[in-house]
Amino acid sequence: MNKPLPASRQTKLLAADAAGIAEAAALLRAGGLVAMPTETVYGLAADATSGTAVAGIYAAKERPSFNPLISHLPDLTSARRQGLFDANALALAQAFWPGPLTLVVPASSGCTVSDLARAGLPSVALRVPAHPVAHAVLEAAGRPIAAPSANRSGRISATSAAHVLADLDGRIDAILDAGPTEVGVESTIVACLDGAPRLLRPGGVPRAAIEYVIGRPLVIAGDAGHAPISPGMLASHYAPAARVRLDAEAPEDGEAWLGFGPEGREHPASLNLSPSGDLREAAAHLFGYMRRLDEMGRRTIAVARIPEHGLGEAINDRLRRAAAPR
Ligand code: TXA
Ligand code: MG
Repeated sequence: MNKPLPASRQTKLLAADAAGIAEAAALLRAGGLVAMPTETVYGLAADATSGTAVAGIYAAKERPSFNPLISHLPDLTSARRQGLFDANALALAQAFWPGPLTLVVPASSGCTVSDLARAGLPSVALRVPAHPVAHAVLEAAGRPIAAPSANRSGRISATSAAHVLADLDGRIDAILDAGPTEVGVESTIVACLDGAPRLLRPGGVPRAAIEYVIGRPLVIAGDAGHAPISPGMLASHYAPAARVRLDAEAPEDGEAWLGFGPEGREHPASLNLSPSGDLREAAAHLFGYMRRLDEMGRRTIAVARIPEHGLGEAINDRLRRAAAPR
């Protein structure tokens, strides 16, 4: 398959000192991509509140689908602005933050994490990492920072700056090099959504330590990448009320229209993912535009054909799930 590479850029190697941390935070605030150390693995960081910045993560990693990402924060107080913590979530945060634990909780009404970083879900994954350099970057960035492991999709997670470079040199703006990471496996992910905490992914905090704090066994939900947030379930979470008709030439009477690329004429009830045909821009708009069109109450949303290369593969993956019979 012939996939064009994301726009190539010079990847700066930054020292993990005050100047490097300040530069990393400035790049993040400007929508850039920075690999930063955490105690688990290096994260490929971007401003979680910006759909465009988050789309850059998927492009750089060549991730084939829009999994929801973890948003990183400097402390519990800022995390509680993003999500609703029940008694279990609060106890776990107090016991293990900062540290290798991610909590999936209902998003708060004031949650600023973008739809794309949440993959359109009503919940949000939050983590307060223990690494001092990550902490300093998060403080200086002043907003939630999305960061999956800093490796190309399908490869092993990066635990050193050299691993990051091997996968992502020329695709990201900078790497903050703080030496090898301590934990080396990703954070444990626990969902606290309905009173029965579920283990979504085993990781840096052992299960027994978590069960000790909550005083009960965790419900096991398998790996977070597969079980509860399996692509199929994601689709049904996300599926709009309207029917979705893909690869359309133009809307038929009464249909809403989701366009892509330059269009010859105007359509009623329409939005264009990217008039210039930029797949990264289209990815950033996808979830929000689908929601807006759905709110218009038409029976069907017709969607223009989206090219299958680059981020188009992921966009089409999500669109096919939205269009799947249900
Ligand atoms: O240690 C880590 O957690 C590293 C470092 C960089 O912090 N980050 C990391 O992120 O592993 P990522 O994006 O690769 O892991 C995200 C996982 C996925 O398995 C995803 O399914 C799950 O978190 N996840 C995120 N949001 C979720 C949500 N709302 N509901 C359920 N699972 C969620
Ligand atoms: Mg990973």
